[in-house]
This record gives sequence, C-alpha cells and structure tokens, in this order.
Amino acid sequence: MHKNFIGGAWVEGIGISHNVNPANFEEIIGEYSQGDSGQALSAISSARDAFPTWSQSTPQQRFDILDRIGSEILARKEELGRLLTREEGKTLVEGIGEANRAGAIFKFFAGEALRLSGEQVASVRPDVIVDVTREPLGVVGLITPWNFPIAIPAWKIAPALAYGNCVIIKPADIAPGCVWALTEIISRSGLPDGVFNLVMGPGSVVGQTIAESNDVDAISFTGSTGVGTHLRRTVTDRGGRVQLEMGGKNPLVVLDDANLEAAVECALNGAFFSTGQRCTASSRLIVTEGIHDRFIAALHKRMEELTVGDGLDPSTDIGPAVSQAQKEQVLEYVRIGESEGARLLLGGTSASGPSNGHYVMPTLFVDTHPDMRINQEEIFGPVACVIKVRDFEHALEVANAVEFGLTAGICTGSLKAASDFKRRVHAGMVMVNLPTAGVDYHVAFGGRKASSYGPREQGSYAREFYTIVKTAYTLPM
Ligand code: UN1
Repeated sequence: MHKNFIGGAWVEGIGISHNVNPANFEEIIGEYSQGDSGQALSAISSARDAFPTWSQSTPQQRFDILDRIGSEILARKEELGRLLTREEGKTLVEGIGEANRAGAIFKFFAGEALRLSGEQVASVRPDVIVDVTREPLGVVGLITPWNFPIAIPAWKIAPALAYGNCVIIKPADIAPGCVWALTEIISRSGLPDGVFNLVMGPGSVVGQTIAESNDVDAISFTGSTGVGTHLRRTVTDRGGRVQLEMGGKNPLVVLDDANLEAAVECALNGAFFSTGQRCTASSRLIVTEGIHDRFIAALHKRMEELTVGDGLDPSTDIGPAVSQAQKEQVLEYVRIGESEGARLLLGGTSASGPSNGHYVMPTLFVDTHPDMRINQEEIFGPVACVIKVRDFEHALEVANAVEFGLTAGICTGSLKAASDFKRRVHAGMVMVNLPTAGVDYHVAFGGRKASSYGPREQGSYAREFYTIVKTAYTLPM
C-alpha cells in the first residue's frame, strides 16, 4: 500500500485506488491511498507549522536537499521511467527522458536557491536606502496532471522548495505512482517534517479542500480548462495566488519554402508522440497550398510506419491513451470531425494492441475548416487536422483564431517569415523548425489567452510565483 505523507509520517488514507496500466488494464501497478478533506487539512496544518523554520533555512541547506533529490532521480531514471510508462502509457524512451528531465529540474532549482537575489536602489530622499527583496510565499498547494506524471510535479515542487515554501501536493488520481516515488525520495532528503506533504485522492475532495483553505497561500495547477477556471475563481475569491496551465490548440504552420522532410518530422512528433496527450501538441497543421499535397502525402507515409503498442516494447512509437474515458473522448472527436465534413485520411479507430490496452490509431483529418470543433477544442489524443491556407498572412490569421495560446510552430527556410511569426503569433512559446512540444527545463514555460493564468513556470521566472516581494526603506542612524 502506497500511503500519504503528512507531517513527516506515512499515513493510510480512507480508501484505496488501483493504479492500472493503460497498456494492459488487467495489470494493477499498485494500491494507492485515497485521502479525504481531513487529511488535506492535516497536511495544510503541518505545512503551516513547518513554514517559520523552513522559510529561514539557508540557501545552502536548500541547495543540498534539492541536489540530493535530483541526484537520486537521475541515478534511478530507468526504473522511474519504467514506472511512468506503466502508469501513463507513453513509450519507455519518453518515460526515461521525462524522469531525466525531472532530475535535471531539481538540479537547476538547487542552483536557483543560491542565485536568488534582490536589488538595492537609491532613494529619492537623502540618505535613505531602499532594498527590494524576495521572501518565501508560504504554503503552496500543487495539483498535477497524469500526462507528465514526474516532470510537471518536479517543476512545481523544486521551485517551491528552492524559494523556501512548504508544499502539499495532490497528483492526478489515475496516475499517482511517480509522485509517490518522488515523495519517497524527498522523505529521505533531509527536509524537516511537514515541509513536504503528499495527499492523494479525488480532486473534488482533496483538491477542493486545498483550494479553499485560507492557510494555503497559493495554488499551482496543470490540467483541464474546466477545473482550472473553477480553481481560479475559488482561490482568487479568497485572495490567494494562483497559477494555471491548461489547454492548448497549438498550430504548426508549414510554408511552401519549408524543408519537407523536417516539417513532416515536426508534425509527427508534435501531433502523435506521447499519444498526443500533451497540452503542447500540434493539433492543427496549417499548410500553404504550394506544399500542401506533398506534405500530406509524406506525412501519411510516415504515419503508416508508426507502431502503436505497449510503451515498454522497444518497437512501439505510440503508447495507449491513458484511460478508457480518454480513448472514448478521442473517438468521439473523430465522429464530430466526420459529421462536420472533415475528411478522415488515416486512423480514427481504436487499435488492437498486444494486450488489453486503450490503444487508438494516430489520426489525420484533411480538408478541414478552421471553425470546425476539431480545430477549436482540445482533443488530447493522437489527432491532427490539416488546414490549407493561401500564404503566410492567411496562416498567421488561422493560427491565432482559437481561444488558446500555449505554443505555436512554423517550418520555413525564410528568416523573415520566422521573425514575423515569432513577433505576431499569440502564444506563450514559439518554435521555428522544431516541434511545438518538448520544451527546455531552464526557461519560462507558459501560454496566453485561455491556456494559462498567472506568472510563468520554470527557469528563474518561477520566482515570480513562488516568492513575494518586499521593499524596505532604511535611514541609517
Ligand atoms: C512539453 O511539451 O515538453 O501538460 C511539456 C502538458 C504541458 C507540458 C508539456 N504542461 O502537456
């Protein structure tokens, strides 16, 4: 039994959830405790009690602890990657890559603990000194999704601790294994009791309690737009700070002058890898008419070479959807696309894998219109829709005509087109001749419009959310 971790102790929940392998739903990876509101409150009060001491810890203490956590993750990345693949479904290469990224994130934020600086400014008044410094914010609640079950928790936990905050984390109900494993590592890292707490359980109970508590200073959430919007209201209404990463409907623009082969690989990776279950996925392929037919033919050919199967099998390119519900959502959008008049070129069905898994074929719609629901709503599966456009200006207009604005990509040999696109596309992150998904871990991550809310995550920008600014005036006497 994998228990909750509250105030430095392992605590059994009030229920049990079975963590099931999406590539073989007869295989139960483990039993995980389900907490309730009472356990969430107890974790919050442990974090509150630990805050006065932890917030005064030295940068060296924080560095040592985060560095130790990072080292253990890196040393165990194969094992953690395997667990990740078994609970989430992505391929082992992706799973190990993500575990590696989590380790690197802890190492980066270990260094950030040492680099946190303020500024001293000359006062407008004689002899007065003004200092602007950053202090730990307090107790933070982290609510994390299933699709990056180790990297996203890492990029919230590491800055929270690096800047001197106490943490309560609630991982996604259907894939809590990696966060539990991370918690086990953190529990041996030398952190004082209560600084870091894990409460697994349903979002509507555990997540809601954390969001409502006046003892939680801030909430960082990655997940659906619906839940994010609800959290924003709940947390801002009580004066709390909130950071949200939600959906995407990311465009990949392919211009006539693009390197065809490279553009196809960008589309393939961005749209279908990780089973398309990424908020950074390229779900809209916006292609100018001169290259349109050649691009589709080449993409079609590459898609036929993809193997759908168990992520643990080295020959697998695309693992299963994470759950039955997720698979049904994909198939429902295939029906919607067809009823809207889009032409299904490939895929659109479930796939028979080697085992009882939630397999679905990589799917390509062509002849689609930008206003179709399949081009406006996040599908969160291996589905891409091609939109034919006249030229760069038309491509840009279509790229921007959605409610989301997380990432946006362009494939082109033109420096002018690339520069224009970087400047004018409504997205938090822009990729030129690179897939829209798969970002670096040491620079700002976040989107615009309905994709994100609040300050950026990752890199040194993470301090905007996890610290609070103080301006101090001194008249030396
Ligand atoms: C990536 O593309 O490297 O949930 C990361 C998501 C994003 C993370 C994507 N928050 O898909």
